[in-house]
Amino acid sequence: MSAPIGDGITGAPSIFTPNRYRGLNVLVTGAAQGIGQAVAQRIAYEGGNVFLVDRADLVHEFAAELASATGVTVGSATVDLETWEGAESMVAAAKEKLGHIDVAINNVGGTIWAKPFEHYAPEEIEKEVYRSLFTTLWSVRAELPALIENGGGSIVNVSSVATGGINRVPYAASKGGVNALTGALAKEAAHHNVRVVATAPGGTLAPERKVARGPGPEGEQAQVWYQEIVDQTTESSLMKRYGTLDEQAAPIVFLASPEASYINGSVLPVAGGDQG
Ligand SMILES: NC(=O)c1ccc[n+]([C@@H]2O[C@H](COP(=O)([O-])OP(=O)(O)OC[C@H]3O[C@@H](n4cnc5c(N)ncnc54)[C@H](O)[C@@H]3O)[C@@H](O)[C@H]2O)c1
Repeated sequence: MSAPIGDGITGAPSIFTPNRYRGLNVLVTGAAQGIGQAVAQRIAYEGGNVFLVDRADLVHEFAAELASATGVTVGSATVDLETWEGAESMVAAAKEKLGHIDVAINNVGGTIWAKPFEHYAPEEIEKEVYRSLFTTLWSVRAELPALIENGGGSIVNVSSVATGGINRVPYAASKGGVNALTGALAKEAAHHNVRVVATAPGGTLAPERKVARGPGPEGEQAQVWYQEIVDQTTESSLMKRYGTLDEQAAPIVFLASPEASYINGSVLPVAGGDQG
């Protein structure tokens, strides 16, 4: 069976659950493109109001298109989630626009470089940790009081099966941190009626990124290291292929929804059988 593919980013996804999110207010980070954009699209088509956050201005354009395509309330903000101030202002802006927050989906991340660990400069390692751990750590810290104040809600963090991958150790370590904070916070926050879960995507096909993660592989050696990641990712999937944006968005949106009300603290690998 071929993978389900949506019919354009502001069109309806090919499979979705109408009204599953009706009446819910959802914050989505990294929503200007890729997995975050597909998640926001699906939630809006399922009736949820969405607040879309990104560092790129493109997020405002997408928010306007999504609002006119679906009729739900859509807000947007550009902030840098590698800073505490950015995370704090994101939550304040979302509350101002939507009134309260029921669900937060922390999706910002992604490896910047692809190379064996001995080739990483110390400042590159720091940048990777800021991009793929701190964005989630700050976001969750800022969102939690809003969810507690709301009487409960859910948080879905987007991790990666690259915790078991090659040529991106700082990214793997960061996503290992995301998995740890997900499990630990689920224990602390359950009595507030707040669920905390994560998905761990595998390799995902997407249109060429409008916002690049970094400089990209420069030179022949860098291309080889990058290709090693692609080969290992494909090989580790039992299905020997990359997934689609829809295949990543669907489990995120399910886990964040009231349908997943008895799932807590779990990290779900979504990688064609690669467990990470
Ligand atoms: N795409 C994949 O193959 C894959 C595989 C495994 C895990 N993941 C994870 O899924 C998530 C989404 O991946 P993607 O490929 O869709 O991402 P992407 O790189 O295509 O998009 C990420 C978005 O986050 C935004 N962003 C980056 N840094 C930011 C910051 N400091 N503050 C605010 N916004 C910022 C970017 O502008 C961009 O719009 C990431 O956490 C990634 O690690 C992706």
